[in-house]
Amino acid sequence: MNAALAGSVTVTTPDTRYEIRIDSGLFGRASTWQDLPTSAQAVIVSNPTVDALYGDALAAAIAPHHRQVSRVLLPDGEAYKTWGSLNLVFDHLLAHGCDRKTVLYALGGGVVGDMAGFAAATYMRGVPFVQVPTTLLAQVDSSVGGKTAINHPLGKNMIGAFYQPARVVCDLDTLATLPARELAAGLAEVIKYGPIADMAFFDWLERSLDALLARDRAALAHAVKRSCEIKAAVVGEDERESGLRAILNFGHTFGHAIEAGQGYGAWLHGEAVGCGMVLATALSAELGLVPATFVDRLTRLVKRAGLPVQPPVMPAERWLELMRVDKKAEAGAIRFVVIETPGRAALRSAPDETVLHVIQRHSAPPCAGQGVGSGAAA
Ligand code: NAD
Ligand code: GLY
Repeated sequence: MNAALAGSVTVTTPDTRYEIRIDSGLFGRASTWQDLPTSAQAVIVSNPTVDALYGDALAAAIAPHHRQVSRVLLPDGEAYKTWGSLNLVFDHLLAHGCDRKTVLYALGGGVVGDMAGFAAATYMRGVPFVQVPTTLLAQVDSSVGGKTAINHPLGKNMIGAFYQPARVVCDLDTLATLPARELAAGLAEVIKYGPIADMAFFDWLERSLDALLARDRAALAHAVKRSCEIKAAVVGEDERESGLRAILNFGHTFGHAIEAGQGYGAWLHGEAVGCGMVLATALSAELGLVPATFVDRLTRLVKRAGLPVQPPVMPAERWLELMRVDKKAEAGAIRFVVIETPGRAALRSAPDETVLHVIQRHSAPPCAGQGVGSGAAA
């Protein structure tokens, strides 16, 4: 642990080891960028929104380590997490004569991070990259652990690679400009860590949610650090998701179905995960694993964070079809991350009728002609 930082977490996998640095004012601190791969060329991958806020600061900070720093800006939004956007990165790298030592810097939220990471994994069969996450969601989850991907119209994050960054730089100052809806979306992935791994953290979140919503710096620093510690421990044990890592997908089977089914971007990823966690916990209760009081407790926290807890309207068959595309499905059987007991999660399949019953029960009363579920993203 670097004593000068609010937080420092190390991720160790069989092939690599890297640091997550967490603090305010990291961009302007020379030590943030030291001991990283150096190269003639560096490319900042971002989008116009984030680049306008932080692109110049990052470019100035890394300039001493590279002869040339260029930028490629991708269209903003989940709907653009596509081959087309990815190709913009490759076009830029090739047009600028970037070699296999070129370092990519992913500046933005999870969408930019996942795409820049995938570009880094595949350009010339792999170039180094640094994650510079600027959303809460990216700081507590997507920038850590090396999952990179783009979406396919038939399924979320279906095309990608495991590829670890050289460092993750979580500058808490960037969270000051985050829209409130995006902050709430990030809180979904923070809340996730409680039921799957650490109920003391969940208790702390219940006490500290107002401070987090008010962007209290100390509260944010703790939430980012504890989330990263839990994620680093899981990734350290199971980088390639042969088992344990699946617990990080708590709420995601329902959530990914909501995102794909509603059209990417209609619900934010974190909103879909928030609602998905409520459904997955209700399913756990239905399977006799946790008491109904725990479903209520989680639902209250998700709601207080400003996240939707009612699923959208989709016909039953559509729900099942979308959930079958999930990467955790085996031989067409959907598998859910359930809470075995608060603080511990596991993968389980469940009868379709039980799953649909849970969705139905959490929906607003259906209007005539509607399918399972109701309600919309907040
Ligand atoms: P996002 O990347 O779309 O960012 C949200 C919005 O906030 C964007 O409009 C962005 O331009 C804007 N923004 C970013 N930083 C800002 C700032 N500091 N100030 C103002 N605006 C800012 O969304 P996200 O929630 O960060 O990431 C969601 C994505 O992450 C999804 O595609 C999801 O699949 C992925 N994800 C990946 C992993 C993983 O392990 N790789 C884990 C969780 C989620
Ligand atoms: N966000 C899920 C994972 O990294 O495995």
